[in-house]
Amino acid sequence: MLIAQITDIHLGFDPGNPDETNRVRLDAVLDVLTRGPNRPDLLIATGDIADRGDRDSYLRLRELFARCPFPVWPSIGNHDRRADFLACFAGLEGGDGFVQYTVELPELRLVTIDTLEEGRHGGAFCARRAAWLDAVLAKAAVKPTYIVMHHPPFESGIDWMNTHPGEPWIETFAEVVRRHPQVRGLICGHLHRAVTAAWEGRTVAVCSSTAPQVSLDLRPIDAEQPDDRAMIVAEDPGYALHRWNGRELVSFHDRAGAPATLARYDARMQGLIRDLKAERPGEGGGPHI
Ligand SMILES: [Fe+2]
Repeated sequence: MLIAQITDIHLGFDPGNPDETNRVRLDAVLDVLTRGPNRPDLLIATGDIADRGDRDSYLRLRELFARCPFPVWPSIGNHDRRADFLACFAGLEGGDGFVQYTVELPELRLVTIDTLEEGRHGGAFCARRAAWLDAVLAKAAVKPTYIVMHHPPFESGIDWMNTHPGEPWIETFAEVVRRHPQVRGLICGHLHRAVTAAWEGRTVAVCSSTAPQVSLDLRPIDAEQPDDRAMIVAEDPGYALHRWNGRELVSFHDRAGAPATLARYDARMQGLIRDLKAERPGEGGGPHI
């Protein structure tokens, strides 16, 4: 099972321009996922899919997603707006108007939650959303489960994008997660950079954005004193592949660029491949004595 992830598309950053940078960058990633060697079984798009939460951007995304040769499951971020999002992506409402739903896969379960509070940049998670999550998790207490959400619940260290661990929504969310040991990890976006962390004993995989990235600068930032530091940088558009191997979810982070190939699988490499395969149980090799 191969789950692809894109995040922070920010379509509509340049309104009225159908060839805007963020669209070109999104297309580059969709092209890799569609035509590359690693065709996913499904794609999740973890929020901030439209920069201004406008219906036109959602309609364009809906059309793009419908053309993908695999199902696409969008979730909501702080730049999104629920009313237009739900008007364009029907069936993703999990009660009380929130964008919350489950994706049932053969061996694991994805539970998507809504961390948007309109008018706020940072995350939110209220008692109503928590009750929904608690009930949904209780329905499958054994099946390995990953929670899909826009805002990571940990403090990243990129000061201007930080989540403060004392924010009340973190504890509301954590209380639910602690009750459900089948929650193996979280899959997030928002930071515009690939990051991993352990949080409450779970792995958190944060995918880089298809839109330009947040500069990796871990110095404190002074709200009263602009210091001309780089904040947004245009590295190649990012995506992630999460591969379920039957035991663990293994996350790869990559970019839709064109790196130089330094070695190919040709006759010169064949000896190495034979040796490596021969070392593995069940692939022709026994233990080396
Ligand atoms: Fe965001």
